[in-house]
Amino acid sequence: MKTNYVHGYDPQENIRLQDQASTLVELLHSDTTYAIGSRVLEAGCGVGAQTVTLARNNPGALITSVDISELSLAEAEQKALDAGLTNVSFKKADIFSLPFEEDLFDHVFVCFVLEHLPSPAEALNALKKVLRKGGTITVIEGDHGSAYFHPDSEAARKAIQCQIELQHRAGGNALIGRELYPLFVKAGYDSVSVSPRMVYVDASRPEFVDGFIKKTFTAMIEGVREAALKAGLAKEEDFGKGVQALYRTGEADGVFCYTFFKATGVKK
Ligand SMILES: C[S@@+](CC[C@H](N)C(=O)[O-])C[C@H]1O[C@@H](n2cnc3c(N)ncnc32)[C@H](O)[C@@H]1O
Repeated sequence: MKTNYVHGYDPQENIRLQDQASTLVELLHSDTTYAIGSRVLEAGCGVGAQTVTLARNNPGALITSVDISELSLAEAEQKALDAGLTNVSFKKADIFSLPFEEDLFDHVFVCFVLEHLPSPAEALNALKKVLRKGGTITVIEGDHGSAYFHPDSEAARKAIQCQIELQHRAGGNALIGRELYPLFVKAGYDSVSVSPRMVYVDASRPEFVDGFIKKTFTAMIEGVREAALKAGLAKEEDFGKGVQALYRTGEADGVFCYTFFKATGVKK
């Protein structure tokens, strides 16, 4: 199945994905542990921003990381090589037509992928096929509707809305975090559990001001500037004000909140 990936594959976006992963490692990964010898499928690994953490945290697990983009896979492979990881292999594959036998994997891990797919429910079904009975799936997604900040700014909210709308037009859903529970249940997973992970940033956490407000969230909104203007969703001046207002939340008296959703389920 063809998917439109709203963020694209340019080098700036790859740096943003890496900054996002580094800042959020503890928050998102600390409770993902896989037993020695277990077979793990990472679906939509991109440039390997999460792969390195998964492989490092689970040195005894055998990780297969797949993506539809050859370019991203090559970068991910290089990253794993540079990190000296020997428990990951990479393969080009489409989530909707996975080249694996049924019931092969003990675990499936997916991060920031369903939000880009026109049919996330179908993706969850496709992933279930390659998971063994009793195996687990973990999905981490954001939800841009969960962003709120001080000072509040209508321009910032409108700029965020441009990103949400563009992702929607590309067939994705930037608000998918809140839907993980019903999606998992509908796909027939058992013991479904969703854990919201809030990123709270104020000036006392300078690494999050830099790594999350600036290099992750605002960089993502800034990244759709041209597309938003081209689609007539915003005027250049207004969009610029929105981006400035987002950066403003990273100043000494600013605050920024965002919630990720981490869902787990078991194949019956
Ligand atoms: C936002 S990136 C996330 C990458 C990585 N999981 C991370 O957290 O940094 C989404 C990735 O999903 C991949 N993707 C989109 N549709 C796919 C599909 N049908 N099959 C496999 N990968 C897909 C894209 O190529 C892209 O690398």
